[in-house]
Amino acid sequence: MSGRRFVYVVACVAAIGGLLFGYDIGIISGALLFIENDFPLTPFLTGVVVSSILIGAVIGAGASGALGDRLGRRKLVLIAAVIFAVGSIGMAFSPTVSVLILFRIVAGLAVGAASALVPTYISEISPTDLRGTLSSVFQLAITLGILLAYVVNFALAGAEAWRWMLGLAAVPAVILFVGMYMVPETPRWLIKNNLMDEARAVLRRSRGREDVEQEIKEIQQVEREESQTEARELLAPWVRPMLVVGIGLAMLQQFVGINTIIYYAPTIINDTGLGASASILATVGIGVVNVLFTLVAIWLIDKLGRKKLLLYGLTGMTLGTIILGLGFVLPSLSGVVSYITLGGMLLYIASFAASFGPIVWVMLPEIFPLQIRGSAVGVSSLSNWVANFIVALLFPVLIAALGETPVFWSLGLICILSMVFVYFLVPETMGRSLEEIEEDLRKGVTVTS
Ligand code: BGC
Repeated sequence: MSGRRFVYVVACVAAIGGLLFGYDIGIISGALLFIENDFPLTPFLTGVVVSSILIGAVIGAGASGALGDRLGRRKLVLIAAVIFAVGSIGMAFSPTVSVLILFRIVAGLAVGAASALVPTYISEISPTDLRGTLSSVFQLAITLGILLAYVVNFALAGAEAWRWMLGLAAVPAVILFVGMYMVPETPRWLIKNNLMDEARAVLRRSRGREDVEQEIKEIQQVEREESQTEARELLAPWVRPMLVVGIGLAMLQQFVGINTIIYYAPTIINDTGLGASASILATVGIGVVNVLFTLVAIWLIDKLGRKKLLLYGLTGMTLGTIILGLGFVLPSLSGVVSYITLGGMLLYIASFAASFGPIVWVMLPEIFPLQIRGSAVGVSSLSNWVANFIVALLFPVLIAALGETPVFWSLGLICILSMVFVYFLVPETMGRSLEEIEEDLRKGVTVTS
């Protein structure tokens, strides 16, 4: 197998890392209900059980950069798959809540590392015209993981089988390991490490043609220019603007509040008076919309461009938050308000899934130069997880203190601020090779449209 089919398969294998990411985000809300039967949980302990994975993820994303630059993207994904399997099995067999928390941190290390490594891996192995599409497959896998978790929660809730819910994540971890074992390292990493024959072989296979010398020359050229510059590149002045864009995008993707919906959807819907079981079903519906609209992004991202799609998506998300907020101030009109709220939520999720969800993971590896790509994507992913942690922690507190409407309208305001950020600072990367993007960055040119 070679050419486009080959890169599609390779990207899908790597994207299983996203499935683990999503499954773990989605499964805990269901498992939590039954963990309490075995281990008495105070509200504080509940918070620690939920967020311990985020603490692991911050560390994993932070460490993955330098390690991925040194060991290679592929080898580190293999290690992450093993760590993930160990973490999941450990969680399933935890005798005490402290052991459970410990193994959630372990699994988090792998989730964080995967969030930085997999997008970089896919971006570096893809041909320019397919890069956005293939990188979005990572987000598709995240949304499939979340949906899978919602369905597993639903299926195992009757048996109260929380250990199975958590332990089953080991299955995709094993599949990821076997799959990644069979795919090659990225050509850019190989060239950077002077493994020219291997790089040539991977390029021939992934481009589906013999003559790959031009692409090798371009990668080498950029590599040469880089090695003449200082090693402490991460803070070099010419890289700084992109670091602001990367960290900014990564944090804003969380501060717009996506995970208030992903983590708390059943609670929010229940609060509108729809009833518990209808709320759980509505949550599965949200999972489905999340997957379907990611497909829309995959279709549009290499046609419309990253920026336009982001601006459209953020507009939809702003409207969604306005409607959500309204739903909570309108007097209850025999159930109608529940549907308004649900409608606002669906508009918000669909808009996020078609834009901000995938675009962050697509753009992070695109905007940084090869020499520091691993570390810079690592730092940006780390910021994404820190912001995720802050939102997960603050949301229930803010709802209790201020009520739903001001909270959702504040999220709308953050969507608007994100639009300003995107419009003025984010470059358009569609249709340009990673080397062209880097050359412009070096020259101080930012292509913003
Ligand atoms: C975000 C996650 C979020 C998921 C929802 C991802 O891009 O990083 O925090 O839960 O999308 O689909």
